[in-house]
Amino acid sequence: MIPTHRISSVLFLICCISTSALFSCKPEPKAIILRKPTTKPTADLIVRKEVRTVAFGSCAHAEQPMPVLDVAIRQKPDVFVWLGDNVYGDTEDISTLEDQYETLGQNPHFQRLDSATRLLATWDDHDYGWNDAGRHYPLKEESKDVFLDFWEDPRDAPRKNREGIYMSYLFDGGKQDVHVILLDTRTFRDDLVRSQSIILKGSNGFSYMADYEPHRGEDSTLLGTAQWRWLKKQLHVQADYRIIASSTQFGAEWNGYESWANFPNEQQRMLELIEEANQKQATPIPTVFISGDVHYAEISKIKSRDGSVANAVVDVTASGITSTWDFATNNANRVAGPIMENNVGILQLGRPGKAKIMAEIWDATGQLRVEHSVLP
Ligand SMILES: [Fe+2]
Repeated sequence: MIPTHRISSVLFLICCISTSALFSCKPEPKAIILRKPTTKPTADLIVRKEVRTVAFGSCAHAEQPMPVLDVAIRQKPDVFVWLGDNVYGDTEDISTLEDQYETLGQNPHFQRLDSATRLLATWDDHDYGWNDAGRHYPLKEESKDVFLDFWEDPRDAPRKNREGIYMSYLFDGGKQDVHVILLDTRTFRDDLVRSQSIILKGSNGFSYMADYEPHRGEDSTLLGTAQWRWLKKQLHVQADYRIIASSTQFGAEWNGYESWANFPNEQQRMLELIEEANQKQATPIPTVFISGDVHYAEISKIKSRDGSVANAVVDVTASGITSTWDFATNNANRVAGPIMENNVGILQLGRPGKAKIMAEIWDATGQLRVEHSVLP
């Protein structure tokens, strides 16, 4: 049996054929709108979540208590960014790294944080696999697998299908869009230049030997070609706020240890790209760096290429969750800190009655140690 709607379709067709010479019963042709393929850059992942409070920290020994994470939880962060040295693997046996992550997963402080907020992560040398390691670390592929397993990226996370672990998120679930860029400072980084007996003084007068000197060649790279290409596009993603997470310090003055200051060309390139991107925006996107690695907290302000204060870039360093260090290095770019006790950082974004971007450093006893207006 032919269904009723089929019969009416057949009658309609007969009508069309028989009357087509006199009348056209074709529907009015609709205007075809050719859409230009969108060329707007987008973040790797769009997350429908409101973000106003961003917490971050680094340098955690998995087997140790992490009470400073409870301090972070009390600030009700919308996300917590793990900035690297999230475990200490320091191994050429991948099972050691796996064990360290397993221990972190069982740490009750970590578990409480995990159930309280969304975790994002990049890595630094010790959880990549080896102290100060770069692109020559032999287990980098295996280490990446362990990293991605532990941090449970969504199935469609692009970093699963490309080299390295750099990644970006656009949190657009509220009144303000927050773009978080996680850099990978390990997978592509060239070897560092060993220092030849340079003695430096720390901020408390402590003398130490510099490990590294700045690269002088033009072909030295920290991020590598593919990551730079990706980053250039990311800096054109529309947002109300942009946070760039780098495991090593971006804004601190050169101090003989690992930092962006060992790659002055790349540091300048970053500043240039941010300035160029901002010039193309109707309203420049407020951009702030967050970093870890050094076992104390501080805030650094690095001048732009033209030396203007307006284009200066702020880097908020929070380190460590369990680690501490005996001294802070001298840092002419420091505008707050150093805080030598265990700490976490907080960025408050667009809070009514506060600065547009407020940076805070909290210690493990729950004291607010630094409150710094990054953008009034
Ligand atoms: Fe580190």
